[in-house]
Amino acid sequence: CGIVGYIGTKEKRNFLINGLKELEYRGYDSAGIAVLKEGEITAFKATGKLSNLSHKVEHFSSSGFGVGIGHTRWATHGKPTEANAHPHWGQYSYIIHNGIIENYKEIKDELLKDGVKFLSQTDTEVAVHLFEKNVKEVGDCFKAFEKTIASLQGAYAILLITKKEPDVIFFAKNAVPLLLGTNAEGEVYFSSSDAPLVGLVNEVVYLEDGEYGWAKDKEITLLKEFKSQHLDFKTLTHDKISAQKDGFRYFMEKEIYEQSLVVAETLMGRIKDNSVVLDELSHLDLSSIDAIKICACGTSYHAALSASYMFERLAKIRCNVEIASEFRYKEPLLDPKTLFIVISQSGETADTLEALKMAKQSGMSTLAICNVDNSSIVRTADMTILTRAGIEKGVASTKAFATQVVTLWLLSLFVGEAKGTIEESILQREIAALLHIPLVLKVNESVHEKIRRLSKRYLHGHGFFFIGRDLFYPLALEGALKLKEISYLHAEGYPAGEMKHGPIALADSELFTIALMPKNLLYDKMKSNVEELGARDSTLLIISPEPFELADDFIKTTPQTHMMSEFFEMMIITQLLALEISIRLGNDVDMPRNLAKSVTVE
Ligand code: G6P
Repeated sequence: CGIVGYIGTKEKRNFLINGLKELEYRGYDSAGIAVLKEGEITAFKATGKLSNLSHKVEHFSSSGFGVGIGHTRWATHGKPTEANAHPHWGQYSYIIHNGIIENYKEIKDELLKDGVKFLSQTDTEVAVHLFEKNVKEVGDCFKAFEKTIASLQGAYAILLITKKEPDVIFFAKNAVPLLLGTNAEGEVYFSSSDAPLVGLVNEVVYLEDGEYGWAKDKEITLLKEFKSQHLDFKTLTHDKISAQKDGFRYFMEKEIYEQSLVVAETLMGRIKDNSVVLDELSHLDLSSIDAIKICACGTSYHAALSASYMFERLAKIRCNVEIASEFRYKEPLLDPKTLFIVISQSGETADTLEALKMAKQSGMSTLAICNVDNSSIVRTADMTILTRAGIEKGVASTKAFATQVVTLWLLSLFVGEAKGTIEESILQREIAALLHIPLVLKVNESVHEKIRRLSKRYLHGHGFFFIGRDLFYPLALEGALKLKEISYLHAEGYPAGEMKHGPIALADSELFTIALMPKNLLYDKMKSNVEELGARDSTLLIISPEPFELADDFIKTTPQTHMMSEFFEMMIITQLLALEISIRLGNDVDMPRNLAKSVTVE
């Protein structure tokens, strides 16, 4: 979901809609705005794409001093209907909210007893009615807002406007990102991320959990637990260029083509004199660390799985990986001699953030591998290595994954070097291979063209199995995830050696096997696994430098001497395959249904 807010004299509709457009990729099954000017509030809502809302507000003019709020919603409580879209209102106040109010049922029951009528099924609506009830009780909007926030449990970024204080935006933040920015013109802006604010403000405050307050005209009051807080302004640096499509059909396509460039960025300055340099870890004492645990979600979890092979094989350190949402509630045994790593593109994923907090509380050293500086995860972790992928807009992650794997590879060499567990000759071989990756990641147009052509065969059928072994197993998982995210076809990633223990029962010509068959890793083992599937009539798409006689389709990769070069070349092929299938099916590649780029709810 995304939030924006504005106080000032400019046309409010413009910033609200444009700001939401910047955030739309985070989640978007409905959207709405509300503007308060000259004592009156006007609100609009629409389901579906943001363009539906833009059409509705086309003739709405809102210049002159006033306040405005806007929201894109990704449904958590209640279906994506117009009634459930934000803003929600009471008698004279309007609210927008990201997150989940966990105790909304109790609050709602109380309000129902008082005779309050609800228009939506959302958890958010209770907050605006509770606010108005508190105003009635305490007679002052500021105290009432404070009281309201104090009784909310859960995760929230909230903006509220009310006719009783027409120059004010009330705000609150807990476990969901919210920042505010100001400029020399005396305008105040709010947003869930810095992207909508680029070019509009020079300075921003990233709000901390538990903080709330109000902006009255340009005066900002910030509080936490009823005590006044210092406004910690930071300069906003970012450029907009990387947010454009540059002639590609979709952001995802552009981001696939950008991988060579961004991985070169990731490596920059981190290999010096035949050694890995990570200044970010200068305070980390690796002599007291004897194991690594990694937590993440989605694509970042797949990067974590690939890292577990690298840490054990290269750095000879035990490494174990868990899905953040599973880790949180399993009452894990945490050991201060284990380094705790979280991986996150956005730095805002709620489950990953909470897992990180648990590890930190237990006294473990914590490290974030993250793409967004100043994100909640970066601000929470003891140390951070930024992946430098640039803004990723496609909901299906591509370049962020590539930079995560490269960063983890660097890190495993760094750990091996620091602990003296990697042999010098292996270290040098790996460094040479790493430096070669930007070249491997250049998309080969003729391979892309071939994938475009053969994708025709893969639009139907009853399922896909992406199979691989060792490091190519996480890659198979990631390939299958890409495909399901944007094609809505059923796809699974599987360790090739496991197929015979159940899934092979599904094999027939309508079952598509996408086999990752690198030459430098377990080729012969993989070959037998694929033959078993071919013998049972599965349609085989083979991705390999070696031709394979049972193949129905064959995508030839470059003969390479290092398995990671093969890994990255195959990664691109699976990304392009998902892209082309999705385009043929007429889907919205960048904004697939039901998904959000950044999941700030549990
Ligand atoms: C969402 C996105 C995925 C992403 C996952 C984890 O589900 O749609 O693409 O992999 O969150 O996100 P993170 O930002 O923590 O890497």
